[in-house]
Amino acid sequence: MKNEEIVDSLKVIKCQHVSLEVSNVDVSLKFYRDFLGLKLSERHYANENPAIPFEMAFMRLGKQHHDLVLTHDPKRDYPEKIFNSGPAGIHHYAFECPNKKSFDMYLDRAKEMSLEIVRGPVLHSAYQSKGDGTWGENWSFYVLDPDKHRIEIFCEMAEIDNAGCFIMENGQKVPDKKVEEI
Ligand SMILES: [Fe+2]
Repeated sequence: MKNEEIVDSLKVIKCQHVSLEVSNVDVSLKFYRDFLGLKLSERHYANENPAIPFEMAFMRLGKQHHDLVLTHDPKRDYPEKIFNSGPAGIHHYAFECPNKKSFDMYLDRAKEMSLEIVRGPVLHSAYQSKGDGTWGENWSFYVLDPDKHRIEIFCEMAEIDNAGCFIMENGQKVPDKKVEEI
């Protein structure tokens, strides 16, 4: 079935929360509170519910119950994550800042907290003069959380209009570029 044949009511509306396996919930809770300001909605311990033999901490950015879920299995070994090895999984996940000023403030906070910035700040663009030749038209930097999950902080990502053109933050189109599917 082609995308355009899917009726509106069958369209999912966004990619939302992520659930991370963490080796220590307390440590990760502190990190996500201190760095990104997430708040704890509720926390539960292993076997508190018979169907859930692991810890869960539900964290939120706004009004939805959770945007991030920390999970921890007390019976599991958590060997140190090696970025370029192991089974397929999540490469990174991302948090959006409302604007470049906010992005710069998060960059300052990452430095103040001595977080490991593994890439950036960088402008992902093959069009804008400051760009690094990659894609999205957004500013980004990348840090590692306590379990070495790679987190991207970004702002100003291009939007796609109805014609499939890439529209930058300043409202301009990226010339000669179209999405691969509309
Ligand atoms: Fe990304």
